[in-house]
Amino acid sequence: MLSVAVLASGRGTNLRALLEAEQGDRLGPASIEVVVSDQDDARALERARHFDVETMVLDPDGRDREAYDAELADALEDRDVDLVVLAGFMRILTSTFLSAFPQRVINIHPALLPSFRGTDAQHQALDAGVRVAGATTHFVTEEVDAGPIILQSAVPVRPDDDREQLSQRILATEHEILPASVRLFAEGRLSIEDGRVHIKGDVDIEGRIVPEVADDG
Ligand code: GAR
Repeated sequence: MLSVAVLASGRGTNLRALLEAEQGDRLGPASIEVVVSDQDDARALERARHFDVETMVLDPDGRDREAYDAELADALEDRDVDLVVLAGFMRILTSTFLSAFPQRVINIHPALLPSFRGTDAQHQALDAGVRVAGATTHFVTEEVDAGPIILQSAVPVRPDDDREQLSQRILATEHEILPASVRLFAEGRLSIEDGRVHIKGDVDIEGRIVPEVADDG
């Protein structure tokens, strides 16, 4: 089994989607072993406890970024974590952390990258007047929201959308592509070459814009 740590700062609906996928046998050979938050009141921690998953709070107060990341990496290495998933984790990870988990950190971002990197991507999409928005999973590199893309899914932007409506529509699709990405990783079907992710076999997410055919059957 592939041991997974999920890092989350807030309400944790993506975490819930992952936990439900694991429970429903849709996460492949992946097991969520620990949930870590930088916020002790994160709803994500409650969700983890509900599923009997170990929780850990690492408070940023009194630690600089390097010290924080070193401590986080140590804690995950102690638990033999194979894959780290950022599910609404609102901190930028430094190379101190990333070098401990090379090509083993996946993030979900609420936009069709490389558009709308950084914070409040849904608001950025509305401001830009785009007709299509969506979500992206990608491997995390030092450059924020710029790592190799795994899956993307698109949703329409309606003329009368406000931020909340658009966010909800994007969120629903995040809940599909994040578990699907973890599963692909756990099944050993992802590889990175020249900054691009290659996927072995079909990806089956109904009605979404995802690779229609495999890069490599
Ligand atoms: C999600 O929309 C996720 O894509 C976003 O935070 C939200 C967390 O929701 N992440 C980022 O914006 C990272 N740049 P959740 O706590 O309900 O999963």
